[in-house]
Amino acid sequence: MGYTVGVITASDKGARGEREDLSGPAIRELVTAAGGETLRYLVLPDEIDLIAETLAAWADAGDLDVILTTGGTGLTQRDITPEATRRIIHREAPGIAEALRAESMKQTPMAMLSRGIAGIRNKTLIVNLPGSPKAVRECLDVLGPVLPHAVQLLAGPTESHPV
Ligand code: MTE
Repeated sequence: MGYTVGVITASDKGARGEREDLSGPAIRELVTAAGGETLRYLVLPDEIDLIAETLAAWADAGDLDVILTTGGTGLTQRDITPEATRRIIHREAPGIAEALRAESMKQTPMAMLSRGIAGIRNKTLIVNLPGSPKAVRECLDVLGPVLPHAVQLLAGPTESHPV
């Protein structure tokens, strides 16, 4: 099943043009290979308001099934992608973040340093991925096969979900 994706790379250096973003394009490539389509892509600095507002605006636009972020999930003072995401989601989907960390731990113990979360705003699933092409690939190996069913469930009939 095809699905639509937005990609946000959170990177101060990327946004200043000091570092080429390789993770965002890696996501786009993997999404395309899995039968999805990337409709929006931005490189943003690690600013919580900007990332939260962009996530909310994209989810509210209604054309994206999934938003994947990459970067800003670690422990430095500038890593605020999970906080920006938590600010605008309506419901958390903790199993996704648990699975990504658990499977990534098989690749590197550094995986425990990613604080990424996953959640839902309206009918859009938002997932934080770490900020390297290698991490993106490893995480999408885990997440990719589940996405079509997740999107199908989210696209289902709207019940009342008081949040
Ligand atoms: N997850 C996977 N699957 N593979 C990786 O190489 N790198 C880790 C971790 N998660 C890694 C991973 C490292 S080194 C860090 S510091 C954290 O993600 C946070 O990365 P970020 O700040 O770029 O989001």
